[in-house]
Amino acid sequence: MKNIAVFASGRGSNFEAIAGAVRNKRLRCNIALLVCDRPGAPVIAKAKKAKVEVALFARKDFASREDFEKAIISRLKSAKVELIVLAGFMRMLSPVLVSAYRRRIINIHPALLPAFKGEHGIQDAFNYGVRWTGVTVHMVDEEMDHGPIILQEPVEIKKRDTLRTLEARIHRVEHALYPKAIGLLLKGKLRFAGRKIIF
Ligand code: GRF
Repeated sequence: MKNIAVFASGRGSNFEAIAGAVRNKRLRCNIALLVCDRPGAPVIAKAKKAKVEVALFARKDFASREDFEKAIISRLKSAKVELIVLAGFMRMLSPVLVSAYRRRIINIHPALLPAFKGEHGIQDAFNYGVRWTGVTVHMVDEEMDHGPIILQEPVEIKKRDTLRTLEARIHRVEHALYPKAIGLLLKGKLRFAGRKIIF
């Protein structure tokens, strides 16, 4: 069974969804590590509850971003991690980590990429007035919210939606879509054709 690491620094609802899918055997892998850069993050308690080892790395303890990532890489290697799953890790990865795990890092973004990149994807789509937004799972490369797309699911913005109701619907879609994308990857079902992924 393959080892994965989830990187998260916030609430952890996606971590919980992935851990739930592993527990129910909908997803056949082992969450070997939660990598977190914020000591007070709620996701830590969720990892402990799921009996997942927590690796805390504070950026301020390292002289450079490269040193910070090298320390993370050595922890990932000793835990024999084969796939990195970013789930609200609010930090851009540098080429050091991206090249060490090329095509083995994925991210979830709460909008239909390439629209509404960045930290506030849900709010930006809501304020723009688009009728449809959604969720994207994609490979991570050196650019923000940019790598090849694995799965997308549209979400309609309804007339009566508030930012809050839209957020709740987006998160529900995320929690189903992320385990599905991880499953495809772990089963080796994805093929690359240039920047496209076919399966
Ligand atoms: C999610 O909306 C995800 O799309 C984005 O960060 C958020 C993390 O939420 N990258 P949570 O911590 O998993 O609840």
